[in-house]
Amino acid sequence: MKELEERINKDGRVIGKDVLKVDSFLNHQIDPVLMEKMGTEFYNHFKDAGVTKILTVESSGIAPAVMAGLKFQVPVVFARKHKSVTLQDDLYTSEVYSFTKKTSNHISISKKYLSSKDNVLIIDDFLANGQAVNGLNDIIDAAHANLVGIGIVIEKSFQKGRQLIDKEKIPVYSLARIKAFDNGQVVFQPEDE
Ligand code: G4P
Ligand code: NA
Ligand code: NA
Repeated sequence: MKELEERINKDGRVIGKDVLKVDSFLNHQIDPVLMEKMGTEFYNHFKDAGVTKILTVESSGIAPAVMAGLKFQVPVVFARKHKSVTLQDDLYTSEVYSFTKKTSNHISISKKYLSSKDNVLIIDDFLANGQAVNGLNDIIDAAHANLVGIGIVIEKSFQKGRQLIDKEKIPVYSLARIKAFDNGQVVFQPEDE
């Protein structure tokens, strides 16, 4: 998505060797106009997949997921990372290891909001090592729901998440694909690679 790449070039900051900071439009302050266009992109790509539900993980996945849900006119469910007092039993739970933070998190979704009748589209803000997607995939399996695709805002193609998904033969669509960081500059993956 051209506009997203331009925005990354304009406002993104490369931190260290493998982190892109995009706090001004995605991870802290949110640009709803850009976000809505992303929702439309995801919709156009997956509109024939029979999507009945969108799944993401709190917190940064929620904004793009809701915009996609609006376009598909389907509910959006976000996995919670922390136990909630009002949400205790009947949960699907999975462990998500963060290579970045070197910690494990449990994510959970109420059994009420995912069933074997669902065709699920996963949406997330970043695809790095693919652990969030893995965790959601476990939960989808446990619910006997059907995963129809994965939509990612920013994919760092040099980390191992994309390969993991490709190995499972799950259709994935990333709005921006980063091939490398070169001296603090973002190098995007050419369309035909
Ligand atoms: P993975 O799910 O692909 O394995 O991601 P990883 O463990 O490497 O990343 C942990 C957290 O860091 C995730 O957010 C992920 O979205 C985010 N992240 C990964 N790479 C980048 C990056 O280059 N830039 C930014 N800004 N974030 C990155 P999270 O902990 O789930 O937090 P949040 O959703 O509440 O923001
Ligand atoms: Na995320
Ligand atoms: Na994040």
